[in-house]
Amino acid sequence: MNREWYKDMAFYQIWPRSFKDGNGDGIGDLWGVYEKLDYIKSLGVGGIWFSPLYVSPNADFGYDISDYYQISPDYGDLEIFDKVLQKAHSLGLKVVMDLVINHTSIEHDWFQKSRRGIEPYTDYYIWREPKADGGKPNNWQGIFESECWQWDDVAGKYYLHLFSSGQPDLNMDNPLVRKEVENIMRFWLSRGVDGFREDVITFISKTEGLPDDGFVIGLRGMRFYESGPRIHEYLQQYRRILEEYPDCFLLGEAPMMTPKKALSFVAGDKRDLDMMFHFQHMEADCFLTEYLRLPFNLKKLKRAFSRWQKRLYNKGWNALYLENHDHPRVISRYGSEQYRVESGKMLACAFLFQQGTPFLYQGQEIGMTNISLPKIEDYADCVAQDVYKRCKRMHLPDKAAMALIRPATRDSSRTPVQWSAGKNGGFSEAEPWFYVNQNYPEINVEAAERDPDSLLHFYRALLNYRKGNDVILKGKYREYEKQSRKLYVYTREYQGKGILVVCSFTEKPVAFQFPKKLKVETMEPLFSNYAAEPAKPEGFTTRPYEVRVYSCRTKG
Ligand code: NOJ
Repeated sequence: MNREWYKDMAFYQIWPRSFKDGNGDGIGDLWGVYEKLDYIKSLGVGGIWFSPLYVSPNADFGYDISDYYQISPDYGDLEIFDKVLQKAHSLGLKVVMDLVINHTSIEHDWFQKSRRGIEPYTDYYIWREPKADGGKPNNWQGIFESECWQWDDVAGKYYLHLFSSGQPDLNMDNPLVRKEVENIMRFWLSRGVDGFREDVITFISKTEGLPDDGFVIGLRGMRFYESGPRIHEYLQQYRRILEEYPDCFLLGEAPMMTPKKALSFVAGDKRDLDMMFHFQHMEADCFLTEYLRLPFNLKKLKRAFSRWQKRLYNKGWNALYLENHDHPRVISRYGSEQYRVESGKMLACAFLFQQGTPFLYQGQEIGMTNISLPKIEDYADCVAQDVYKRCKRMHLPDKAAMALIRPATRDSSRTPVQWSAGKNGGFSEAEPWFYVNQNYPEINVEAAERDPDSLLHFYRALLNYRKGNDVILKGKYREYEKQSRKLYVYTREYQGKGILVVCSFTEKPVAFQFPKKLKVETMEPLFSNYAAEPAKPEGFTTRPYEVRVYSCRTKG
């Protein structure tokens, strides 16, 4: 068995609540997934990553777990999980679970016992007394809520929660907690899953004493837990579990990660993680926080792409993505809803010819777009709700608060998948748990299947093209037109074979010239989002959001 099977494949991410309702209660579930496994396989991916399926009170839709050993009744039970797993495997699809261990839900039995001082759970979480002056234990800021300390009457102490107050941080320095994590991992690996995506994994080790922070640009306190002092020790401990299950792999979510630092996690045979989800390319339209949006800046995006491609080359392996359940839809951000299909195809080429394992998020393959709802009550995500509260505290009028929230909320990627032009977009016969984007009569899987020029067929063609392709697997990456604010141009090259990708990020015409430094003997068009139009030897003028991909023979 090839231990690095994950390199020559792509994953499809399922956010279960909105994927497909199979039992008619308006909530996506594993019966729905079972129905759609052949569809997933047909995309040309080799595996599925499930966002959390476990029991959860849904303060953060599954990222607050109250039982790691059971499937949430909303999504099914262990029996249907096993059926999905078995069918996925029989189709040749790997299955990766989310492992959320930085925190649990407050409803988890460990927390309930911990707050009551029942051993051995007392030290499972990060409890602190108030400061001598009665203030919070330190001055850190929360990632989701402005505060990260919550007073608990039962314990008579504060507990730390980097995310929402329903997500208390586990005390990873406690060996018993780490033993629990090992048990959870073994449980799912023994059931047959192929690995984990470890949630905010680089935050699990906190600096001893949890010191106060000074003035910082960014979040106060973060430097005391981002890649904290014992992070490698803990990750190695979890890595060792995989030695018992040798064909499994680990992927870590790593906010604030830079490519330089990433190498200490993903390089070498004894690496902590096989790859990482970083965020740098997802900030090209943000200022400091995701809730302060700026016009899209292509140079920022290109810098992030190129840094990761170059730094990790021959040392580590990239995870490639443009969408997941934490970000609004990419066509609405980096592309154009007016040129939805054209820009969707261009964006697909902008990342799929890079080196790494691509992750496609449900609905991305048909070009789903953002929602825009009138009132805060219409939105479901805890972060949107919290940002609204903060705006109110700053006396921002409703209009201004909603103007910040609408383009930024994670809710936009969490609307039900649009399967057909039928009732509720074919997601459910019952009233769906959340708003269905009203563009479903036009944007849906059935319509995309019928249209030979759809984004769906384009994704299939790209994913199939990638398979076993040496240039994509091993080729050196090089960027051209670095200073351009409109074009992203890159090549991959391996043993005399090359691929040239020219992406226009604008509807305006741009005169593109083949780079002089590009030493090619022959050039054949491979993919484009417009009908073929021959290029002159010196170049061509782009159409709105045009992409052209060429396969080349390089000199020497
Ligand atoms: C990252 C997950 O992707 C996100 O959805 C979640 O809210 C946070 N981690 C906290 O678990």
